[in-house]
This record gives sequence, structure tokens and C-alpha cells, in this order.
Amino acid sequence: MAGCGILEKREAGGEWALEVVDVRKSYGERPVLRGVGFRLARGERVALVGPSGSGKTTLLNCIGGVDRPDSGHVRVLGEEITTMDADGLAAVRRTRVGTVFQFFHLLPTLTARENVEFPLRLLGMPEARRRERVDLLMGRVGVAHRSGALPSELSGGEMQRVAIARSLVHGPSLLLADEPTGNLDSANGENVLNLLEELGNETGTALVLVTHSLAATRVCHRVIHLRDGAVEREESRPGTVARGVAGVAGVAGVV
Ligand SMILES: Nc1ncnc2c1ncn2[C@@H]1O[C@H](COP(=O)(O)OP(=O)(O)O)[C@@H](O)[C@H]1O
Ligand SMILES: [Mg+2]
Repeated sequence: MAGCGILEKREAGGEWALEVVDVRKSYGERPVLRGVGFRLARGERVALVGPSGSGKTTLLNCIGGVDRPDSGHVRVLGEEITTMDADGLAAVRRTRVGTVFQFFHLLPTLTARENVEFPLRLLGMPEARRRERVDLLMGRVGVAHRSGALPSELSGGEMQRVAIARSLVHGPSLLLADEPTGNLDSANGENVLNLLEELGNETGTALVLVTHSLAATRVCHRVIHLRDGAVEREESRPGTVARGVAGVAGVAGVV
């Protein structure tokens, strides 16, 4: 694809969407992550649960390359990101990783549609292709009719659906979501969880879902319990099997 060469790396890499190996991080003298490790197959969804302060957001930031661990390894599609420079990390975030936040983090001066389009502009994708991807995702999450609205004109549920469309528009292999239902009422929270599950199955995108709500773990294949910066225990959810790189619908990867 002309102008989008970096996307061609997307399907490279190992068999794991994500490998976290013995990740440690302290703030000053205080250890926040004390040797966390887990692996995520392609298309697999894991919930990371634990009390407030247990290190969930710090771990997610280390996985997303927003923060750096003091030691240990984080590999996204087999590629070590802990030793990458800022440009390398930015490239990984633009191509392979999508993020959804508790407070949506939409750009306030851009319309819903422009917010969803933003990651594709960063990639230099041609306009016609951008339009096609944005239409597809906005339709899929049910916000096409709010296309021209600014974030301040949207409800919380609409904002999070726009944010989900934005997080998947570039066809990432790994989606990171930090308390994505934490600021929504229960009906909108359910809707967002269902979307994460359905879109995960349709696109084959692996998901790390940070939550302190055990109910929210229902859309995940596995649950990892964090306590005081370490994995306390892990459980598989019976009857759930990751489908790997499914890619059944048109919502799947950009390349
Ligand atoms: N930038 C920072 N500087 C100092 N301490 C921090 C920083 N970020 C997080 N912490 C501390 O690390 C611990 C874990 O925080 P966090 O990862 O946000 O936990 P969680 O998301 O599970 O609530 C908390 O005690 C928090 O105060
Ligand atoms: Mg947190």
C-alpha cells in the first residue's frame, strides 16, 4: 500500500500477540510491579483484575510503551519493545496497538468522525481508503449517525463507542483497555463489553482488559488477578476458547 509501508510489518512476528516476562517497576523506592509475567495468544482476551493501586495501569502503560519497566521483557507480536527508542515505540503504537481509556480521551476539537480518522492520518493513508475504514468502523459500533458531532455533544456511551472505533480503525493486533466501562452506566457498560467481545472475534485482535469489575471479565478467555504488583492467581473461563486470527469480517486488518 503506497504511503503505508510501515503497516506491512503488521503480520510479522511470533506466535504470541503479547509476551510479558518478569516485568518489574518501582517509583522511587516503592516497587509497583514485582515480576509480572503472562502471554497472550493472537485473538485471545485476558482480564487483568485487582484492587486499586495493585499496578494495573502501570502494567498496561509498560505494555503500550507509554512507560518503561525497570527490567523484564514486553514483546508485541514477537518484537521486544522495552529497548525501543521513542520513534520505534510510536511506530508500534500506530500500527499494532489500539487503546481505550476510562475517560475516552477523544480530541475535543475534532468531530466523532475526525477522531476515528486520526490514527489513519498519522499513517498517511490515502483519503478514499481512510473514508472507507472510518465508515466501516463507525457503522459497526453504531455511531455513524453522530459523525459530525463534537465529543462534548455525545453521551458517555457514544463517546466510548467512538473511542472503540478509533482504537481498531488501523487494524491493530493488540487492544489495551483500561477500565473502559468505569465511567458508564450499566446498560452502556454492557454495550461496550459486547462490542469488545464481538469485534475481538471478528478482527482477531487480542485484548488486555483492565477492570476491577468481575462482571466485566465475562468477555475474556482468562482472568489474571494482580495483587501488590504480582500475579496472585490466574483462571481460565470455562467454555471460552480464543479463536486466534479470525478476521472474518471486513473490520479486520487494514492490510
Ligand atoms: N507516576 C507515578 N509516580 C509515583 N507513583 C505512581 C505513579 N503511577 C502510579 N504510582 C503508584 O503505583 C501504584 C500502582 O498504581 P496503578 O498502576 O495506577 O494502580 P491501579 O491501576 O491498579 O489502580 C499506586 O500506589 C500508585 O500510587
Ligand atoms: Mg488504574
